[in-house]
Amino acid sequence: MRDAQCSLLLESFLHELHSKYKSCTEGTVANYIPELSKVNPELFSICIATVEGEIYQVGDYNELFTIQSISKVFVYGLALEDRGRDYFLTKVGVEPTGDAFNSIVLDEVSKRPYNPMVNAGAIATTSLIKGTGVTERLNRMLDMFRRYTGHNVFVDISVFTSERVTGHRNRAMAHLMLNFGTIDQSIDETLDLYFQQCAVMVNCHDLAVMAATLANKGINPVTGEQAIDSCYIKDILSVMYTCGMYNFAGEWAYKVGIPAKSGISGGIIAVIPNVMGIGVFSPPLDLRANSVRGVKVCEELSQKFGLHLFDCSRQKLQFCN
Ligand code: DON
Repeated sequence: MRDAQCSLLLESFLHELHSKYKSCTEGTVANYIPELSKVNPELFSICIATVEGEIYQVGDYNELFTIQSISKVFVYGLALEDRGRDYFLTKVGVEPTGDAFNSIVLDEVSKRPYNPMVNAGAIATTSLIKGTGVTERLNRMLDMFRRYTGHNVFVDISVFTSERVTGHRNRAMAHLMLNFGTIDQSIDETLDLYFQQCAVMVNCHDLAVMAATLANKGINPVTGEQAIDSCYIKDILSVMYTCGMYNFAGEWAYKVGIPAKSGISGGIIAVIPNVMGIGVFSPPLDLRANSVRGVKVCEELSQKFGLHLFDCSRQKLQFCN
């Protein structure tokens, strides 16, 4: 347990950050998936879950939203478990692209998508999820999300349908990968699964617990359940660190220094290994599709508690005592 003084400091800092950025009006909510444009841009929450299972939260942390690209992290873990690291690497690489999340680009030589965090790589990753038919594959994914969140999760049908009928760019990428043999014939099934994983509903509290599970060797710190084999945590965190924030990943690694992943609905997760998971939710996005308030909050948390992984000026993490 953290001592009472440290807990108070953390709680009051989260409140301070929340009131500092509540009035920030920068950014715009995503509208290329029509249903997402209906969200209230003022929603804002921050949650921290420690590896001991303590929770610190402020704002609209019970508000549900669709997980979107943050799902890529967890489905990547499931695909690694299903196929093993060596096979997975023949299908999807681990190179950052420096491109936007939806860029239609494959490695010229290998014809693999560059990494599992950009859409092309995520669709290829989803295609590797095992199961007989779409229902079994979806249920395996939902069960995986249950282990990370600690409760059953559901797909927002309106958002799923909205993306399904407008996701031509993702469909084009799937066809391109089918052409190169990167993914197999069942592209409609794979795209449906991908759109459904993106439409899984979570709240900010869930994001923090999911991130804390990654921080805690794959064990959900609240339920004690193993959500993923611990041997894949380093794969996941490495890819989050280098590719999780898209064409902002380099600047993020430099400034914030924590493995993280953002989603188009305004969520961000960040993982401090063996310490805690951070979840932030605020829908308005910057030009690189990352939550404006989310980025600012994580920058400040990193600075305040010395969270940057390569900050050797700290003896031990200032957050722990
Ligand atoms: O495939 C898409 O475009 C969305 N379902 C997810 C994109 C996303 O969240 C990108 N994140 N910043």
